[in-house]
Amino acid sequence: KRHLISAADLTRDDAVLILDTAEEMARVADRPIKKLPTLRGRTVVNLFFEDSTRTRISFEAAAKRLSADVINFSAKGSSVSKGESLKDTALTLEAMGADAVVIRHHDSGAPHRLATSGWIGGSVVNAGDGTHEHPTQALLDAFTMRRRLVGADAGIGQDLAGRRITIVGDILHSRVARSNVHLLTTLGAEVTLVAPPTLVPFGVERWPCEVSYDLDSVVAKSDAVMMLRVQRERMNAAFFPTEREYARRYGLDGERMARMPEHAIVMHPGPMNRGMEITAEVADSPRCTAVEQVANGVSIRMAVLYLLLGGNEPAVTATSTPTE
Ligand code: CP
Repeated sequence: KRHLISAADLTRDDAVLILDTAEEMARVADRPIKKLPTLRGRTVVNLFFEDSTRTRISFEAAAKRLSADVINFSAKGSSVSKGESLKDTALTLEAMGADAVVIRHHDSGAPHRLATSGWIGGSVVNAGDGTHEHPTQALLDAFTMRRRLVGADAGIGQDLAGRRITIVGDILHSRVARSNVHLLTTLGAEVTLVAPPTLVPFGVERWPCEVSYDLDSVVAKSDAVMMLRVQRERMNAAFFPTEREYARRYGLDGERMARMPEHAIVMHPGPMNRGMEITAEVADSPRCTAVEQVANGVSIRMAVLYLLLGGNEPAVTATSTPTE
């Protein structure tokens, strides 16, 4: 495959290959010298039209660990604020010789447009588009689940068959939820969405998952509970319950977490609204993998860049010479 636009485009074998490659990349991160020469001479552009902390930094770290040159572009402070179009921005990047463009955009479909327009010749990676998809987030989430629920070594070649994953909160505005539903079901997991009725997307009955409005009835049978940020910047205040009411019915506090099976984990893609969808007690507990997810994001993004740009060479071999 040349681009990564949607988790729905990945087969089970594609997804397992990415997770297995990320496992190799995670071992590089454990070395004293964390770099591989694999993408030396290649250029990765991070093209961010929307704010980001984790995704932008981890794509930069991933590209640098593979020895690629990295250009970071933020729409704020660029000629986009003078009205320059996506096309002219893309043509400018193409002139600079981008081998891969990692794009985050407020419009759903912008990465697809970039990949199919012919404006650029390199690979396009979707780093989050509007309310549509965030495929590398879903991959790092699946990687975290496989490591925690199956094991890092035992997980190689394995999927998430039979694992019960609950995704809770603002599904309506969540590209993370959509990508996770596609990817986790492709990997054999059973997914349940829990949300207030006003934050469930139209047409959700066609998604390959269950929908519940009662968090208490599902936490006790979940292997992982993924809490989503309430995206108040994308919603009309009239459709939203009060903060206290939301936290009471759909938030995860210590009492609810205690009803989860002993092995079950709490996940959050970040950024978190502490006190709303998750209490500080839960966010800071050893069962919460939020920080681990960020670290795993570097390994997943290394795997994605390597598989898109690195050709057929093994990612990490006995002869791979670390660079400084
Ligand atoms: N999870 C995630 O996409 O975080 P950022 O918005 O900080 O990149």
